[in-house]
Amino acid sequence: MVKIEDLYSMKGKICVVTGGSTGLGSYMAEGFLAAGAARVYITARSENTLQAKAAELTGMCDGECIAIAGDLATLDGVAALSTTLHDKEDHIDVLVNNAGIGTGGYFEQLSVDDWDRTMDLNLRSPLFLTQALLDLLKQNASHDDPARVVFISSVAASEVFKHVMAYSTSKKGLEHMTPQLALALCDDHILVNSIAPGRFYSEMTRGAWEDPEDESFKQSLLRIPAHRYGGLEDMAGVAVMLCSRAGSYFTGEVLNLDGGHRLRH
Ligand SMILES: NC(=O)c1ccc[n+]([C@@H]2O[C@H](COP(=O)([O-])OP(=O)(O)OC[C@H]3O[C@@H](n4cnc5c(N)ncnc54)[C@H](OP(=O)(O)O)[C@@H]3O)[C@@H](O)[C@H]2O)c1
Repeated sequence: MVKIEDLYSMKGKICVVTGGSTGLGSYMAEGFLAAGAARVYITARSENTLQAKAAELTGMCDGECIAIAGDLATLDGVAALSTTLHDKEDHIDVLVNNAGIGTGGYFEQLSVDDWDRTMDLNLRSPLFLTQALLDLLKQNASHDDPARVVFISSVAASEVFKHVMAYSTSKKGLEHMTPQLALALCDDHILVNSIAPGRFYSEMTRGAWEDPEDESFKQSLLRIPAHRYGGLEDMAGVAVMLCSRAGSYFTGEVLNLDGGHRLRH
């Protein structure tokens, strides 16, 4: 009989989660370690928060969480992360391109600077970090045990709001890239998928949920069909499924992880 613990095991896997110091990235890093990953590299700019999260996660499991600080909005930052990972590992099993910023603003006020910093981090860095790490991703990838690339999109990719043009366009770009890259990398045994989260507890959304009595927060919970924000278990569960044997027949797919959010927009 199939063993459920083997299906969802990430035993011995080497993973990289960008933006892993807080929010969704930290939830996925925790999930990978809880599922048996040997090493999970997390990255972010703020070194103190990043080191604290790495120490916290290492203390919880048998594997190790390792912090690599840097700014992925720049191509130099992408190259520096790639160099560090090449120095430390001879292969990578899982790359989660999660680091992102949420920018807003109406078209009339949209500046070139806001557009560029949104695209640089949310769209350019996931593509070129994947390219920079391609040799490490290919190294151990096989027909029976493919490597994984995951992009973190957003329900915003499928919504039309006047005030999130740059952000939603960057996420739509990621979703469009997903099947293209999946096809480009299929002969290298690398599976490429996206997760499109709805509302989750994180630093990015802190202003919306910090006060649980806030009327607009309560209204937002009523609108979401699941009547709640997503959290650690929601994100960790789907990331582990996608990156373990359980999810190895998905490629080129966008998984909506939104408690039904998109159904009411
Ligand atoms: N929370 C939600 O409801 C939601 C919904 C849909 C999609 N998402 C997506 O989920 C991803 C994670 O966001 P989150 O909600 O978890 O927000 P978060 O808690 O603010 O986490 C963002 C992470 O990215 C890092 N980061 C930000 N700018 C960076 C840069 N220039 N270079 C390297 N790392 C950088 C942050 O650390 P530093 O600031 O220290 O660099 C942090 O580790 C994003 O792609 C976001 O678009 C979130």
